[in-house]
Amino acid sequence: HSPEVDRLYQAYEWSAKFYHYLLKNTEHGKAAMEYLRSRKFSDQMIDQFQIGFAPDRWDTLLQFLERREFDLAEMEKGGLLSSRSEGKGYIDRFRGRIIFPIANRAGKVVAFAGRILGEGQPKYLNSPDSKLFNKSRILYNLHQSKSSIRKTRQIVLFEGYGDVISAWDSDVHNGVATMGTSLTENHVSMMKALADEIVICYDGDRAGQAAAMKAIPMLEGVGLRVKVAVLPSGLDPDEFVTRYGGERFREQIVESAVSTVKFKLIYLKKNHILLEEDGKIAYVKEALQIIASLHSSTEREVYLKEIASELELSYDSLKQDCNLLRASMQ
Ligand code: CTP
Ligand code: MN
Ligand code: MN
Ligand code: MN
Ligand code: MN
Repeated sequence: HSPEVDRLYQAYEWSAKFYHYLLKNTEHGKAAMEYLRSRKFSDQMIDQFQIGFAPDRWDTLLQFLERREFDLAEMEKGGLLSSRSEGKGYIDRFRGRIIFPIANRAGKVVAFAGRILGEGQPKYLNSPDSKLFNKSRILYNLHQSKSSIRKTRQIVLFEGYGDVISAWDSDVHNGVATMGTSLTENHVSMMKALADEIVICYDGDRAGQAAAMKAIPMLEGVGLRVKVAVLPSGLDPDEFVTRYGGERFREQIVESAVSTVKFKLIYLKKNHILLEEDGKIAYVKEALQIIASLHSSTEREVYLKEIASELELSYDSLKQDCNLLRASMQ
């Protein structure tokens, strides 16, 4: 590395330790600690993920970095400080926020995500891309999960920090997160190099489910096996763990993940009103598109039978339509 890159690594490492210390041992961190407690973050989780707190002041980190003789312009470029809007000089970039350090594969901290306490905008403030950090090339928690991933050849893919951390506390140690940005080709090839199977475990809201629909072809496209964990609508994995506990999360969500075909059918169903004939027919048409493209006739039979019994249709007519569709696809 260049000396500048080394200095930035050093600054992030020390800043992460500093923010972690402020959270745990000072009056500044008290409200943040209470907030984390209210979200059921244990000391163990706070230590394991080196969670910290940036006090709501202009110059906490600034003074820390100045005392250690870092070049402040360099620290601004690296995303730890911001330029004053008026006049010269710098201020802390992260103020009044819980700090989630983001590490690269080697376990070195390369960025921070700062969460506001409670409600407010933006919910998360991140370090900008820098010489160390490129959001579309980093999976949160990969440094800690890679040994479990190597053993299981499986990755559980989440949206956010809290999801990964709660999952870890539930003994799901092969979790990573894309940090909200949509999944990139780069993320996909990183995962392909480490695992054979991905369990998509996105939030149970519309955005999460739509993101899962987008992720499926990207992952299957490189030959990964894909399953989808289905969350109750409105809950994300972290909220599920808080409400129902880690054991239920592991058994009823992660280990009960469904095939991508099943997930697509569930997703499709949510967009149609099955009580009306029009809705029912439209749903069946789209469902048949999915099923007809399956290569295995056993698989086709399984799903056709499910739809037949669910919608009180005959298996024979569904099969006939499916076969017509297959013929037209050749
Ligand atoms: N995210 C972000 N900036 C935002 C909102 C979201 O970077 N303003 C990223 C974060 O990595 C976040 C992820 O997208 O963890 C998922 O977003 P969301 O589900 O909205 O947040 P949660 O992770 O559920 O956050 P929390 O539990 O703290 O409310
Ligand atoms: Mn716990
Ligand atoms: Mn979300
Ligand atoms: Mn969420
Ligand atoms: Mn959440």
